[in-house]
Amino acid sequence: PGAGPTAMRRILPADMVERGRCPFDPPPGLRARRGQGTVQPLPLLNGAQAWLVTGFEEARTVLSDARFSADKVRHRDATSLQPYEVTEMAATTPEPDTTLAGREDGFFVFMDPPEHTRIRRLLTGQFTVRRMRALESRVTEIAIEHVEAMKAAGTEADLVPAFALPLPSLVICELLGVDYADRAEFQERTAVGLNANATDEERAVAGAELYAFMQRLVADKRANPADDLLSGLVHDADPPLTDAQLVDVALVLLGAGHETTANMLGLSTFALLEHPDQLAAMRDDPTRIDNAVEELLRYLTIIQLGVSRVTTEPVTLGGADIPAGATVVIATPEVNRDPRHWPNPDRLDVHRPRTPHLAFGHGVHQCLGQQLARVEMQIGLRELITRLPNLRLAVPAEQVPLRDEMLIFGVHSLPVTWA
Ligand code: HEM
Repeated sequence: PGAGPTAMRRILPADMVERGRCPFDPPPGLRARRGQGTVQPLPLLNGAQAWLVTGFEEARTVLSDARFSADKVRHRDATSLQPYEVTEMAATTPEPDTTLAGREDGFFVFMDPPEHTRIRRLLTGQFTVRRMRALESRVTEIAIEHVEAMKAAGTEADLVPAFALPLPSLVICELLGVDYADRAEFQERTAVGLNANATDEERAVAGAELYAFMQRLVADKRANPADDLLSGLVHDADPPLTDAQLVDVALVLLGAGHETTANMLGLSTFALLEHPDQLAAMRDDPTRIDNAVEELLRYLTIIQLGVSRVTTEPVTLGGADIPAGATVVIATPEVNRDPRHWPNPDRLDVHRPRTPHLAFGHGVHQCLGQQLARVEMQIGLRELITRLPNLRLAVPAEQVPLRDEMLIFGVHSLPVTWA
């Protein structure tokens, strides 16, 4: 789980990865490209050439036009940026598969229709209104439990391990149907992938253990079906998914739904503490929180350069001629600040009218868990700011360690106090 810290650094210039003076603004190297065309050549450090999309409309085209493929397993070349942990998956398929034979894995994030459609439909069938409602009340319980535990333990905490990480992790447990007894093991394994200090070896070991954990979970759901999403996938799919595919699907849900939400919770809190007027507006009128979450998603856009596609044929877009087989990277943080779409795009403004943004992507791969992510953020932030009215940073803002080496931006830790 989680993109390792090295992949981005190996191929991208430092000023496109590291944040400048303001930790919430896109990196200066990315910002400097504003106004230089909505689709630009992106020379990579390994000598290869990719393309960078900074315009909102152009990004929507890339994400909805079948000439841009998400199938980086089949079209994989040495230059592609690997979102989430496709690197690990790619390691198991040493040669790009150009035979166009059917895919047998379950990494649907990297599939095109119709292979993608089949698994995606199965999943949307499991994200039922009833199940989401039940999850909502669990999210509330989990959020309250964790804020109250922080209060009971003193007047200072690191918000990441105390709140931002366990909340989405426990929600994924609910979704997959991980037993209470197994949750500590599950959380321990997944946390390693998010720990910047973990060595490659520790990551590999945790990854293998997590894989084995998911295998046991799938076997258990096959033998003892319960009322959870994974059981539904095991038993409702016709034709059935293989156990290996089910493990992959479970790993995708974990990888896509855990690190993202955890970082949005941590970084949103940091941003609000640095914009006290915006925080006050939310506290004064909690009905503003839903809108505020949408603005935080836009303003913070934590998936830095992680949404990418590969062209299946030559395409002209935004005045640029992109050849076939090229990697096209969406500069999501810039796209969500396209001045043609938002007045004063660099301002965090929780009063801003709600308009579509690309924080959850667009098109057939648009975030499957977006409603759940919204609920986790709305409830999580609400409980946090209302139960801790004196919440503030416990260190100067410059000392908050940023995850700018990761595909998913955020904070490694967030020392806070509420004395
Ligand atoms: C896809 C963002 C939370 C599950 C995506 C994509 C983005 C995204 C940008 C599109 C990737 C692409 O097109 O290449 C986020 C953010 C989140 C979040 C910012 C938190 C604030 C979640 C949660 C879940 C989830 C909670 C599940 C429980 C998925 C899945 C996909 C996806 C399964 C792949 C869908 C597909 O390929 O059809 N997410 N996500 N995400 N997300 Fe999320």
